[in-house]
Amino acid sequence: MQIESSRPLQLLNTFGIAVNASHYVAVHDAARLPSLLTSGASELQRILVLGGGSNVLFTEDFNGLVLHMVNKGIDVLSEDDDVMIVRVAAGEVWDDFVTWSTDRSLYGIENLVAIPGSVGAAPVQNIGAYGMELSDTLQEVEVVMLEDGSRHNFSNSMCQFGYRTSLFKNELKGQVVITSVTFRLRKRGTLNLSYKGVEEVLHQRHLHHPNPADVADAIRHIRDTKLPDPKRTGNAGSFFKNPVVSAEDHRQLMALHPGLPSYPQSDGTVKVAAGWLIEHAGLKGFRMGNASVHDRQALVLVNTGNATGTEVVTLANHIIKTVWITYGIRLEPEVNIL
Ligand code: EPU
Repeated sequence: MQIESSRPLQLLNTFGIAVNASHYVAVHDAARLPSLLTSGASELQRILVLGGGSNVLFTEDFNGLVLHMVNKGIDVLSEDDDVMIVRVAAGEVWDDFVTWSTDRSLYGIENLVAIPGSVGAAPVQNIGAYGMELSDTLQEVEVVMLEDGSRHNFSNSMCQFGYRTSLFKNELKGQVVITSVTFRLRKRGTLNLSYKGVEEVLHQRHLHHPNPADVADAIRHIRDTKLPDPKRTGNAGSFFKNPVVSAEDHRQLMALHPGLPSYPQSDGTVKVAAGWLIEHAGLKGFRMGNASVHDRQALVLVNTGNATGTEVVTLANHIIKTVWITYGIRLEPEVNIL
């Protein structure tokens, strides 16, 4: 494995921010990570593990080693009449794996179609969309510790998954490289069509007995109409998390803002739609410098061309402040700001 110096990262982050890493290595073979980590690499003060670069915002050059996970491979570990257990290398493109799964009519990740990023990054923020989360199908995560190169396996329950969070985003942040993820996909199952708009698209297409591929196609279509394509317009998907408020705060909010989309949680709290809050605070399409609020989905911030990370952060701070003044709710970024 060759460590490069002064490596441009603009094509390696979906926001398209032009920064450099002082050191960079592309990891094609995870088995070689332990020796890399126990040799010279550990002398570099900071290590950043990069997958698809779809949930990161660089505000300055990265002074340290970028470990870019590009290892490939999808292996069926076992199967019976009901279940297929599949181990996927961290460097596989997430959406390619969804297609692999729906091509085989497997159930479990079809609603997570068209999410940018890599398989190895998916558990970090427990990617979710259209009523499904990665943690619903994930069986195990294999990691290498950055400190000493040792290998460990984490079962689903050990990963402490929550809404857009996991052990890897909290206690183990910056301490591990995810090298592969193992999934438990089902050969039979029920489709989750509960999310607004999915059934309508299937109906328009006269798909009365849809399979996982039909649902994935319908969701891809819905996403295409709302979300900017990072290949053309730099962005990192939802910039903020949907905030969770207490039942009492929610009651007061609804009295003032009866249209606010709300999702009651099992613990009595209520998740509310940040995109709606931003739009109704008058910020949909709002632009500051080379960064703007997307005009079809206000939860997404976009690079309108040559934006710096600082410009995006300035816009994000303006949104946080405006939403706070308007509703008394503090938005939290979902994106990792570096
Ligand atoms: N809304 C507005 N204005 C907007 C955006 C949204 O009024 O500008 C309203 C919508 O009309 C809807 C509600 O807010 O009633 C929710 O909007 P949407 O269905 O677009 O979903 P979201 O809550 O904004 C979440 C995820 C997305 C995921 C969608 C679909 C988070 C932070 N984001 O967005 O995930 O695709 O649901 O499941 O949970 C991502 O994480 O990068 C991402 C795109």
